[in-house]
Amino acid sequence: MDGNGRWAQRRHLPRVAGHRAGAEAVRRAMQAAADAGVEVLTVYAFSSENWRRSEEEVSDLKGLMRYYVERELDTLQKEGVRLQLIGEPGAFGNDLYDRLVHSVEQTQANSRLTLVVALNYGSQGEIAAAARELARRAVAGEIAPEQIDEKAIEGLLQTHGLPPLDLLIRTSGEVRLSNFLLWQAAYAELVFTDVLWPDFDEQAFNAALSEYARRQRRFGGR
Ligand code: IPE
Ligand code: MG
Repeated sequence: MDGNGRWAQRRHLPRVAGHRAGAEAVRRAMQAAADAGVEVLTVYAFSSENWRRSEEEVSDLKGLMRYYVERELDTLQKEGVRLQLIGEPGAFGNDLYDRLVHSVEQTQANSRLTLVVALNYGSQGEIAAAARELARRAVAGEIAPEQIDEKAIEGLLQTHGLPPLDLLIRTSGEVRLSNFLLWQAAYAELVFTDVLWPDFDEQAFNAALSEYARRQRRFGGR
């Protein structure tokens, strides 16, 4: 979800106004995904590198998370959306973390759409953590190093249990992955759009789905 800052700048508004509009866009994307029959929608809300932003912006983002986690629980229930988290959201403090976990627990039985929110998430850190755990098990004699394969690593990623990633969309004209789902994106279709995230609506979502539908996926075959 990129382009909140530029969206605000173009309107001569503070960056936080862009983040607020971006949060509204998440609700629209969730609705569009559910309507299109998408099983899982993962949104990159805060990366493990976003701590480099000003204290003010980080605090604004935390404020928005708190506001939305409170306000949106009803919407999640009404729309049949199951909330899941990846990353290390504990770093946002106990208060916010407890509210997030509460919403995760309350929505576990919902089955129309799974909304995965990546909070303080970084893919390299996620893979390193899996490697660390496998090394620990090997040293403890629980597994042999030869047993460390793709499946073993995959089973320790935070996305374990979710279906394979099919489509990855990046907004705002940037053409990089920025430490998002690097392992999981091995065979994902990538769609890059110039639309700024706050402007990303159902039409933009469906355009990305159409582009995905036109792609020929061969998974290394011919
Ligand atoms: C998305 O927009 C930010 C987050 C989800 C934290 P940006 O804040 O990166 O917007 P630009 O890149 O400045 O336009
Ligand atoms: Mg950006």
